[in-house]
Amino acid sequence: MNPVIEQFAKACHDILENDPGPAGREQVRRRLEQVLVDDSVVRDYFGPGADSTRNVLYEDPDLGFCVIAHVYKDKRISNPHDHAESWAIYGQVDGVTHMTEYRSVEKPVDGKPGKAEPVKTYDLKPGMAVAYEPGVLHAPVRHEPTKLLRIEGVNLQDVKRDRYEEVG
Ligand SMILES: [Fe+2]
Repeated sequence: MNPVIEQFAKACHDILENDPGPAGREQVRRRLEQVLVDDSVVRDYFGPGADSTRNVLYEDPDLGFCVIAHVYKDKRISNPHDHAESWAIYGQVDGVTHMTEYRSVEKPVDGKPGKAEPVKTYDLKPGMAVAYEPGVLHAPVRHEPTKLLRIEGVNLQDVKRDRYEEVG
């Protein structure tokens, strides 16, 4: 493992063990912003040969959080979603993510998507990281290729997420 990621993962573990709430996540977010612009991290995980849309670099055996490198070669448009009970921190390495946050106006029922109203939209640019608390609905839109380093509170690979449609 790249030593910067190794140190970062250890720091995240210590921070989140001491403070598993929003204040701890804010500390992790700030540290992630330093890692996003680290030359060795960019070289090792985001170079020309990197093409995985989900490369789990680290999964914490005690706390369950994951550090994940994402390389999206094409545009990628997501519907509003949350991460079930988990939080997530999105860090931009390259390209721009147009992010919209939503509030739920109708919960999903029986496989029918819920409805969500946009609250705010902003761009994540290289070097920026934003934390999403559990239940915060958001939709990332990427018109061009992008590279991200994300942290998930738990590995969300197989977690079922509610579906929402945008209204209003
Ligand atoms: Fe998300």
